Amino acid sequence: MGAKIVTGEAGYVLEDVPHLSDYIPDLPTYPNPLQDNPAYSVVKQYFVDDDDTITQKIVVHKNTPRGVHFRRAGPRQKVYFESDEVHACIVTCGGLCPGLNTVIREIVCGLNYMYGVKRVLGIDGGYRGFYAKNTISLTPKSVNDIHKRGGTILGTSRGGHDTSKIVDSIQDRGINQVYIIGGDGTQRGASVIFEEVKRRGLKVAVAGIPKTIDNDIPIIDKSFGFDTAVEEAQRAINAAHVESESFENCIGLVKLMGRYSGFIAMYATLASRDVDCCLIPESPFYLEGPGGLFEYIEKRLKENGHMVIVVAEGAGQELLSESIHSMTKEDASGNKLLKDVGLWISQQIKDHFAKKNKMTINLKYIDPTYMIRAIPSNASDNVYSTLLAQSAVHGAMAGYTGFTVGLVNGRQSYIPFYKITEKMNKVVITDRMWARLLSSTNQPSFLSVKDVIEDKKDEEPPQQQVLDEESCLDDNLVNKENSFI
Ligand code: F6P
Repeated sequence: MGAKIVTGEAGYVLEDVPHLSDYIPDLPTYPNPLQDNPAYSVVKQYFVDDDDTITQKIVVHKNTPRGVHFRRAGPRQKVYFESDEVHACIVTCGGLCPGLNTVIREIVCGLNYMYGVKRVLGIDGGYRGFYAKNTISLTPKSVNDIHKRGGTILGTSRGGHDTSKIVDSIQDRGINQVYIIGGDGTQRGASVIFEEVKRRGLKVAVAGIPKTIDNDIPIIDKSFGFDTAVEEAQRAINAAHVESESFENCIGLVKLMGRYSGFIAMYATLASRDVDCCLIPESPFYLEGPGGLFEYIEKRLKENGHMVIVVAEGAGQELLSESIHSMTKEDASGNKLLKDVGLWISQQIKDHFAKKNKMTINLKYIDPTYMIRAIPSNASDNVYSTLLAQSAVHGAMAGYTGFTVGLVNGRQSYIPFYKITEKMNKVVITDRMWARLLSSTNQPSFLSVKDVIEDKKDEEPPQQQVLDEESCLDDNLVNKENSFI
């Protein structure tokens, strides 16, 4: 389906999401059951006005056009499903992330408590569960405690996206609301499912809840689970700091997740203040010579006797490829399988200082990546996940479809799939957040002045993000190839 664009005065643009009534004429509507719910009846203006939209660009100048907006999420006065007509399903795809169980719980409870929906199915083990596995019946009772556990009670997998088998299964089971939790590839898959549902003319709402521990989905302020990951990473960094302080010439090295985007490493470093060097995929670095990593390590050890290095898993992959010759393989999501930068860099550092024979070093390597991903979400991510789940439920009940939910400038919004799947959110190393990091660690920038000038030439003025107001420049988002999950 083409983009649904509405324009208005002063350069106002609404990038709207599809609605069931776009392709099914004369759909009946019903009063929203929330209007009789005692919990909500006291809330003034509980229902969202259909004209409410959220601006993407929040920093503006006097003559700036109003720019792109998204539909505001929340309950509508009228709904397009009767409570006992709804048969919903939930699927989780891709890697784990703190908060998955909270999102599942709150979709089930939101549907039941707010809209009286009793029939919710869990799809077992990701997309392939639609056609290759049994389903799990979900009730408020069965999901009551799950937010206290890490992982996903539904199981997850990469790959397994077979559009026609999935939509056949949706049709055969009489499912009419599909909640899909997963990263950019999963959301691309959700978009294709929506297109097929529409082609078949089915009254099925397809809603996405974006999930990425790497925080690499664009447009949204941040992804659920990211705060938890940054917080948990502190424990590993603390351990590296304690170890490194206790031995002579000791380097504590911590590897964190971040395949293409170094947000976890950057925020964990900024939060900790114990880190002397942070290496991320967006900032190429080099080892030897003036301004290189070895020179900096030697300097820090001479000054302090210890140091902490944080490395994101996707950092320095081009250096690894030069020294380790192996076949490039991909996982089922189409992501390039990375070589272990943590082990590689540990060895390089050890070899370098052994060769020089003038400094005996100790190196303690900590890889907490899966331990971080597997924990339950913290309090703020629990609240955030709850709001995302409830927004998805309100949207589907109101007949919206082919959308993903997300926080845009602090407001829950409905975003068309294509906006979050065509690019990837990356740390912009020529912006202020990375400069703050450099000034906190005092590490070399590994950039020449020429690189900075070249980079600046292509940039647009920054747009604000709640998490990092400079990180989401459209020009600096990278395109990701088509893959589902
Ligand atoms: O989902 C992204 C991510 O967390 C990456 O940071 C990491 O490379 C990847 O998942 C690893 O997941 P798995 O080993 O399950 O494929």
